[in-house]
Amino acid sequence: MIIYFAPMEGITDGVLRRVHQQLFGGVDVYCLPFHKLTQSMSLLTRERRDISPEENRGMTVLPQALTRDPDQLTAWLKYVSALGYDHADLNLGCPSPTVTRRGRGSGMLRDLPALRAFLDRVFAEPLPVALSVKTRIGCESPEEWPEILSLLSDYPFAHVTIHVRTTREQYTGGIHPEAFDLALQGGLPHPVYNGDLRTLEDVRALVTRCPGTEAVMIGRGLLADPALARRIRGGAAASGEELRAWYTALYEGWRDRFHATIALGRIKKLMEWPVGSDIRRKRLLRRAEDIESCIEAALGR
Ligand SMILES: Cc1cc2nc3c(=O)[nH]c(=O)nc-3n(C[C@H](O)[C@H](O)[C@H](O)COP(=O)(O)O)c2cc1C
Repeated sequence: MIIYFAPMEGITDGVLRRVHQQLFGGVDVYCLPFHKLTQSMSLLTRERRDISPEENRGMTVLPQALTRDPDQLTAWLKYVSALGYDHADLNLGCPSPTVTRRGRGSGMLRDLPALRAFLDRVFAEPLPVALSVKTRIGCESPEEWPEILSLLSDYPFAHVTIHVRTTREQYTGGIHPEAFDLALQGGLPHPVYNGDLRTLEDVRALVTRCPGTEAVMIGRGLLADPALARRIRGGAAASGEELRAWYTALYEGWRDRFHATIALGRIKKLMEWPVGSDIRRKRLLRRAEDIESCIEAALGR
């Protein structure tokens, strides 16, 4: 099974990707958070750093773009190719209102004729790199999915990652695994399942339900349990020592890159996942003033 580490803006940066690969592994492809393309094609400094080959040495990464302009996408794909990558992804999944209001991300699923016109333009010429897409299953209702699926099947995407929620459902609404069944049955080449794979049991249940599953993308499950991909491959669960090393290395990486305060803020945000709804640990984490107290809050007795 191919395992993708989901892109998560503000979290899965080069520091996290490198530390994760070194300490836990098990992931085949680390996905880069989206580049928001603009008319001037000027990327942010952090976006340039994130995609630079130096930042991603020794690992397979998948850059991603957010745009509704075919010319912007084509120009960006050339840039991605010039950097030495052979694969890139288009975001049709971002549900943020600031993005969808401008008809980007999952906002593109609102107007399927416009999406078709966009993709016709994108695929009119041979592309410099393989293109995949990450999509939601609709805007308002899962009933929109069959039409979206049929449209996406008309284009030669390298793979299609399906976050089995609608835009309206954001990140916590119910999930619709039957949308993935439909993609498998409909013969969509290389569908990748995404959505709420938090534990080994969740992955096993998916494979039992959909034996044709070739690939999964995991985001928050890997934040809560960084050894999850390794465990899917039959490896060991994370030891306390490994988790300490994980948080310490992340803190040091972010401190060296940004500032101690920012690094601590990022660690606290990340630890929200393993801490979950444990009120005592949440309180300890909120009060923590250094990395040791954060680790104690998340991992101590
Ligand atoms: C904080 C955050 C940032 C995200 N940023 C991106 C992004 O840049 N590109 C993208 O395609 N999806 C993004 N996502 C969505 C995730 O990649 C993934 O589809 C979603 O979290 C569902 O998978 P999960 O249940 O395994 O976490 C983001 C999600 C979160 C929580």
